[in-house]
Amino acid sequence: MREFLGTPVDRIDGPAKVTGTARYPVDETRPGMLWGHLVTSEVAAGRLRALDTEAAARSAGVVAIFSPFDPLPIPPLPSISNPAGARWAPLADTAVHHHGQVVAVVVADTPEQARSAASLVRASYDVERGRVDLDPAHERVPAAVDHGQDPDIGYSPDGSTVEQVLAGSDVTVSGRYRTPVQNHAAMELHSALAWWSDDGRLHVRTGHQAIPWLVGELSLTFDLDPADVDVVATHVGGAFGGKTRAGVDVKLACAASRVLGRPVKIVLTREQVFTSTVVRAATEQEVTLGAHRDGRLTAVVHRSRSAEAAVLSDLLVAPGHTVSRVLYGAEAMAISQRAVTAHLPRTGFMRGPSEVPGLFALETAMDELADALDMDPVEIRLRNDTPVFPGTDLPWSSRHLTECLRIGADRFGWSERARRPGTRLDGDWFVGLGMAVTSYRAAQVAPVAVSVTLRADGDAEVATSAVDLGTGMATVLAITTADALGIPIERVRVRLGDSALPPGGAALGSTGTAAVVPAVRAAVRAAMAEVRPDATAVPFAEVLRSAGRTAVTGRGETRPRGALTDGHAHWSFGAQFCEVRVNRWTREPRVTRMLGVMDIGRVVNAKAARSQIVGGMVWGLSAALLESIEFDPSARMTNADLAGYLVPVNADVPDVDVVLLDVPDLEHNECGVRGAGEIGAGGMSAAIGNAIHNAVGIRLRELPITLDRMFTPREGNERP
Ligand code: MOS
Repeated sequence: MREFLGTPVDRIDGPAKVTGTARYPVDETRPGMLWGHLVTSEVAAGRLRALDTEAAARSAGVVAIFSPFDPLPIPPLPSISNPAGARWAPLADTAVHHHGQVVAVVVADTPEQARSAASLVRASYDVERGRVDLDPAHERVPAAVDHGQDPDIGYSPDGSTVEQVLAGSDVTVSGRYRTPVQNHAAMELHSALAWWSDDGRLHVRTGHQAIPWLVGELSLTFDLDPADVDVVATHVGGAFGGKTRAGVDVKLACAASRVLGRPVKIVLTREQVFTSTVVRAATEQEVTLGAHRDGRLTAVVHRSRSAEAAVLSDLLVAPGHTVSRVLYGAEAMAISQRAVTAHLPRTGFMRGPSEVPGLFALETAMDELADALDMDPVEIRLRNDTPVFPGTDLPWSSRHLTECLRIGADRFGWSERARRPGTRLDGDWFVGLGMAVTSYRAAQVAPVAVSVTLRADGDAEVATSAVDLGTGMATVLAITTADALGIPIERVRVRLGDSALPPGGAALGSTGTAAVVPAVRAAVRAAMAEVRPDATAVPFAEVLRSAGRTAVTGRGETRPRGALTDGHAHWSFGAQFCEVRVNRWTREPRVTRMLGVMDIGRVVNAKAARSQIVGGMVWGLSAALLESIEFDPSARMTNADLAGYLVPVNADVPDVDVVLLDVPDLEHNECGVRGAGEIGAGGMSAAIGNAIHNAVGIRLRELPITLDRMFTPREGNERP
């Protein structure tokens, strides 16, 4: 049955959101609640020498001030996704690891009192030199990189090295690519409300991407049975990887509430979201490609260096491992990842954590290779598509990159692209077309359980602790349940985002939909098997009524698994195209058209999936032209707000066209669904850079592509 699956369905929570009745964690209150406000470090490195809290303590409404000199009982732990990494807890010691590190929390009766008193706290420091650069002199080999891979991977034909393969190539290109530090800037500020009930249970209301992980992390931190941690996040106002771990707001609210015996709520300021939560680390990447005269790749060499926060690092992302390993079938590959410790906020996940920087480097290099060969950029990618996971004989679960490229080129009018840069002028604007390939792995990172309850009145209820970050998970649950039961979507009640419900895994790594949809199907099957084991077509409500039962519940589960599993490599692919106009006098680039053609398996909600890809491509545009956290020479953030940290507004975003191939990947799961969350962000920044090169012949290997760089490219970048 495919009544709803794949059709465009409006968000079931849309009316609640647009009428303001949807309650987000940041909206939650509690009787007798106190408010905490963070005091954060003004310096990036050194030691907190003293804290003058006298004036703050005398300030109206102040109940308590916690600091390293009067700490809260929070044990220093490593990130749960990087257990070998640094251990840290807020306020546990006086070492300062980054600008914006919390050095005190002021708790008062009202948020205004807490904020005002926090402004009266005076800190003095023994300042050391902060560093946020990627100086190779400081690099080290990490023990492991994301998904437990070795830092150095690759292959080459028997009896030869990658260097020998490169040396024997007809053409080689080589470049150094840089990507900056970024922040998610989710619309809902990071916040936590925590209280302890008389039975010793901990209650938390906070925006989070994986309730089972938060429960695990808090039970470990506060020495509790996981069953005694209650977390609810019915709606989450954006996360993008920035809400995958318990942040300082969460741990401080829980600990302060326990000590003070009252509910405590902490809401970060927008500046603190930049300085005191999670960032995407900067990267420097060297890519060398070798090819035969006909465009077939001989070798891919991708060496990247990423910053890793001294304070806490969720994982070391490996741009080359994630993208260069999978995109093209080369004869030889050498991919490596190095780490450079830096005075940054917690380094962690951000939409396409390795894919966004990695694809910028690789897909710019591919454009340079096409240039060097005088070959069309689409054609060179077609020639390097591969039926197997490169260097192995492992087939893909489903890979339709060639279709994405052909459909995209045709639909976008790729044949209009000028062969030589700087030759297509329209008024005062040079016109360029660019493209790139994008990719994202399809895996499952956490177990997922879903229950489906069928009622004698004909309604159904689907329940899981999976969260909806704005991605449309609530609607996915409703669609899948209605579809499997053959009932109208209005008859499905969705309950989610509550730790009391069956554990719904993690809304990250583009894994949510593909992990949840088969679990819903299994839960429906389990419930139906109880209602009518004889498989007759009588509606479940009638069967329940005639049996005198009011309801029956079934449970379905899916298990974690890697992207290389069951004899297949599971990845999604897509092709992205754009048109950029560059002003001939000011060199201002304007993106005027974008197209993404995506192979994400079967589509569940055509409207939401399209929306995800559009959003991802706008992220790509943003990464290409606008976003960067800038640091002063002492490693302090200089633009930690939405005035100085630029993101696109409507006027920056053109019409975005999306095609979803909608080919079910039945090797991946019974429903053929993969994921749509991150792939759209992947190749877009390279596509835009490639279009700028096509327009005016300027090749920038550093993001963002700002006007100053268009005029004075630095080492590694080229102008005509
Ligand atoms: Mo995504 S960066 O895995 O939330």
